[in-house]
Amino acid sequence: MLKAINHEITNSSTNELILEFVELRKKTMELFNPLKTEDAVIQSDPFGSPPNWHIAHVTWFYQKILEKHSKESSKIKNTFKTSEINTDYLNSYYQQFKNILPKDQRGRFPRPTVSQSIEYRKTIDKSIINFLKTFKKKLPENIKYDILLANHHEMQHQELMIYDIQNYFARFSDPVDNYNIKNINKKPDTRYRNSRKMVEIDGGIYNLGFKGIGFSYDNELPEHKIYLHPYKIDITPVSNDDFIKFIEDDGYKRFEFWLADGWEKVKSEKWNSPLYWFERDGKWFKKDFTGIKEIDLEEPVVNISYYEADAYAKWIGKRLPTEAEWEKAASWNERLQEKTPYPWGNENPTEEHANLLEKVIMGVIR
Ligand SMILES: [Fe+2]
Repeated sequence: MLKAINHEITNSSTNELILEFVELRKKTMELFNPLKTEDAVIQSDPFGSPPNWHIAHVTWFYQKILEKHSKESSKIKNTFKTSEINTDYLNSYYQQFKNILPKDQRGRFPRPTVSQSIEYRKTIDKSIINFLKTFKKKLPENIKYDILLANHHEMQHQELMIYDIQNYFARFSDPVDNYNIKNINKKPDTRYRNSRKMVEIDGGIYNLGFKGIGFSYDNELPEHKIYLHPYKIDITPVSNDDFIKFIEDDGYKRFEFWLADGWEKVKSEKWNSPLYWFERDGKWFKKDFTGIKEIDLEEPVVNISYYEADAYAKWIGKRLPTEAEWEKAASWNERLQEKTPYPWGNENPTEEHANLLEKVIMGVIR
């Protein structure tokens, strides 16, 4: 889980927005910097992207915002200079900007080069800061939203980079040939691991979606009423131990647990365990950023697909929650009688609440 930068950011001043922007951009480069140049330009799988592409693409997103607002005002245009590099490789899905490079081609065109991408980031960083500084008194809502959107977009790409890097290094059998991150420094809190308890949630009318102050994506709008039946939901994630029981009960060999297209995948791609797992002398192992280690039975199962999660739920006699059930369980605060960004309320997460990127990244040091 990534730490959200600041949920109260829309109420903050321009200066605070600049500080958050700087911190966010720094975090991306902390993820990128441990990579060797050769590792940074490889697309490890068609479903992923090269790290170099990630850091340039998120920068291109900010450039598009600068270009958009410079059309509205020549005063704004004079405050920044965008980069001269060829950005034709950096559009992902945005039809309005044309020149979309198919996703599976990103590793075949390592342009801009790594050094160009880094320079490009520095140029756009300066431009965004200069741009924001022109709004000392009041930042227009539409510009604030665009910058927040770009910030959240970059946070999404930080997560994507982490799972792309996991996918990339898992291919090398040498355990020390790895992503040598610097900030693994603390054991996570294990108090709430794997309780197997469920909690009851009331049914009735529920307001699904986002309303209020702060950032949301457009697909969270508008808030609208839906009806929920009462339901129960697990209070902790499914553990590796539980998932191994599913494997040992031939979960990957019994079609009755699987959706039809999921079962096709199981057969055609020979699935027999979560991604990255391998068996040695009757035990399950995985290579993560701490090397090759035996699967920790108490940790939540990760790197499974929707199909595997659904099959597991059917096997154990439950089902996956709907979006509305999950949203209510995660965000409805009975004490405050309102939805809050986190189950405990409005306060930003600390290491008491979650294993944050800042503390433990993709692995547990023991
Ligand atoms: Fe993107």
